[in-house]
Amino acid sequence: MTSIRAARSRRPPATLDAEQLRADFPILQQEHEGNPLVYLDNAATSQKPTQVIRALQHFYEEHNANIHRGVYYLSEQATAAYDAARTKVQTFINAARAGEIVFVRGTTEAVNLVAQSFVRPMLEAGDEIVLSQMEHHSNIVPWQLVCEATGARLRVVPITDEGALDLDEYAKALNDRTKFVTLVHVSNSLGTINPVKELVRLAHDRQIPVLLDGAQAVPHMPVDVQDLDCDFYAFSGHKMFGPTGIGVLYGKAEHLEAMPPYQGGGDMIRSVSFEATQYAPAPSKFEAGTPHIAGAIGLGAAIDYLQAIDPKALAAHEQALLARTTEVLCAMPGVRLIGTATDKASVVSFVLDGVHAHDVGTILDQQGVCIRTGHHCTQPVMERMGVPATARASYALYNTAADVDALANALCRVREVFAG
Ligand code: ALA
Repeated sequence: MTSIRAARSRRPPATLDAEQLRADFPILQQEHEGNPLVYLDNAATSQKPTQVIRALQHFYEEHNANIHRGVYYLSEQATAAYDAARTKVQTFINAARAGEIVFVRGTTEAVNLVAQSFVRPMLEAGDEIVLSQMEHHSNIVPWQLVCEATGARLRVVPITDEGALDLDEYAKALNDRTKFVTLVHVSNSLGTINPVKELVRLAHDRQIPVLLDGAQAVPHMPVDVQDLDCDFYAFSGHKMFGPTGIGVLYGKAEHLEAMPPYQGGGDMIRSVSFEATQYAPAPSKFEAGTPHIAGAIGLGAAIDYLQAIDPKALAAHEQALLARTTEVLCAMPGVRLIGTATDKASVVSFVLDGVHAHDVGTILDQQGVCIRTGHHCTQPVMERMGVPATARASYALYNTAADVDALANALCRVREVFAG
């Protein structure tokens, strides 16, 4: 008799039908400049499937009311849907409790919240915050603000010529003055996937808490915050097929309970008087005012959408797109890839000799190919790599090999224009 394990091992690897998934994304059905739209700017924002768009429409058409405030059925329905979205996020990143999930506007707000509420009160002059040279501006500037206010300083871990984190330098950067570590999980401009579990472990060996910026990780790979053991994890809904204006801060319960609120207002209190206000427990303590109710529900729908896809098939599909793009671009004269770390997500930054990245982007746009050009909110990365800007193609689950070919053909046109 064949064992189940033997039968499973003979099964072909799960594959992802990107063509079928594309049909879920109305915006991808349109043409631009007479060509099918080729959307390769997913690191900036992802497109939205019908399932998410319908969830938003359904909420506004059927359930719209403010939450936690009404005794009438609409408000109860809206509250239940908002709370259910929090539970979906909890499951999505395997947090221990729903109360560890704080809804915020996006990754930027999550980082600012941690910087001001958790880290700033513990800082004294001369203390250090460790971060890497590949951080997005949103994981640099909030820390500069707390350093300006406290006299603490940033300790920047350099990256290698390939765009990988220098692990020896990271280990050296951790010292008795280090009060906090904040690191990107996946770089938005290089595609580098950092070995975050190991980086967290090294910091925890010295009792240093860690925030991970997961904005570019969650659309591409399963994230398990308990396995990573990070203290905080931040991400945005709009990069993972959800709405703009909604994001998540995960924080370990013990930290969230100990932290003061970041903003004051309605719905974050237990009682208010002019003499003394008592705050609600986390996460309500961090969600002052009417939250983005529809956004949270839309994010929940995006999670449902992503969770219906086999993560191994998704990874294999995106790695195939990365490999094909890398091969095509490396074969093209005058093209140099920026970011060639061994472990990469499906983000390809490059420069073309003698052509400014913005010109590359403009000529690609004329052929229906959307990419981002510029510094990608990572000016220190550009400086390290010795370039003013790059062109960047970033993929998502609905991209296909045909999109890579369209990019390659459009780039040939750029070269023709500049050769002529
Ligand atoms: N952080 C976004 C990007 O990389 C906006 O394009």
